[in-house]
Amino acid sequence: MVAIRIVNAKKRFQNLWALKGINMEVGQGEFFGLLGPNGAGKTTLIHSMVGLCRLTEGSIQIFDFDSQKEAIKAHALIGFSPQDINLDRFFTIKKILTYQAGFFGTPRKESIKKADHMLELFGLTDKADTQYYKLSGGMQKRLLVAKAVITEPKILILDEPTAGVDVEQRHALWDYLRKLNAAGTTIILTTHYIDEAQELCKRISIINEGELKETGSPQELIAKYCDQKLTAQRGDLEKVFLKVTGRKL
Ligand SMILES: Nc1ncnc2c1ncn2[C@@H]1O[C@H](COP(=O)(O)OP(=O)(O)OP(=O)(O)O)[C@@H](O)[C@H]1O
Ligand SMILES: [Mg+2]
Repeated sequence: MVAIRIVNAKKRFQNLWALKGINMEVGQGEFFGLLGPNGAGKTTLIHSMVGLCRLTEGSIQIFDFDSQKEAIKAHALIGFSPQDINLDRFFTIKKILTYQAGFFGTPRKESIKKADHMLELFGLTDKADTQYYKLSGGMQKRLLVAKAVITEPKILILDEPTAGVDVEQRHALWDYLRKLNAAGTTIILTTHYIDEAQELCKRISIINEGELKETGSPQELIAKYCDQKLTAQRGDLEKVFLKVTGRKL
């Protein structure tokens, strides 16, 4: 079953085409990576999926729903962790999580329980009663992911969730995401850590200047772009990325 179907997605900002006709499908239960250099259009594409950006042309289907025509139903299926912080400055982080759980009809008592569980799971219990801006940058990122998963969404979309997160917490997050995915959650991840995509994603797409350049499993792309026929090594997908996007180190 297809979880997300993107057909000819185009987005124009004034005279810049941020998306130039993207076609992409993500299957239910996939762990899918979206890679591309700064300004490639990843966040624009993700914002179009979650309803924060209206496409100039094209359509996005979220399971059975058109993301623009049936926006509320479509977006209720998604948990989204944005690249930039979009939280209320005045609420404590426990309140942020409790309210998020409550948006989807969970009773208050249960929402509080869920919030406590998330705080524990993401190592934020001792910060429960502080506002988000008093957390460190990495803690804020973890909070965004906690907020995205608290509603137990069918699709989890993470825009650079591990930027600035320390190595221990990053591995903890990887383990957690693997478990969620094994339990059936479809995950879409953008990251500039190519080794992270190689580690986690079954399939990836590489976009550059608003165009989708390649899609495949890390192994398929490595076999296509790297000379060695040996088993994939750490760093190989980085070589693929540089070739596909025409960049050099
Ligand atoms: N609201 C906006 N108004 C005008 N231009 C925008 C807007 N949002 C994005 N853009 C432009 O669209 C292009 C794609 O930006 P986008 O944020 O999608 O890139 P990205 O792939 O997520 O990059 P990064 O890796 O830096 O997060 C960029 O040139 C950006 O400046
Ligand atoms: Mg971005």
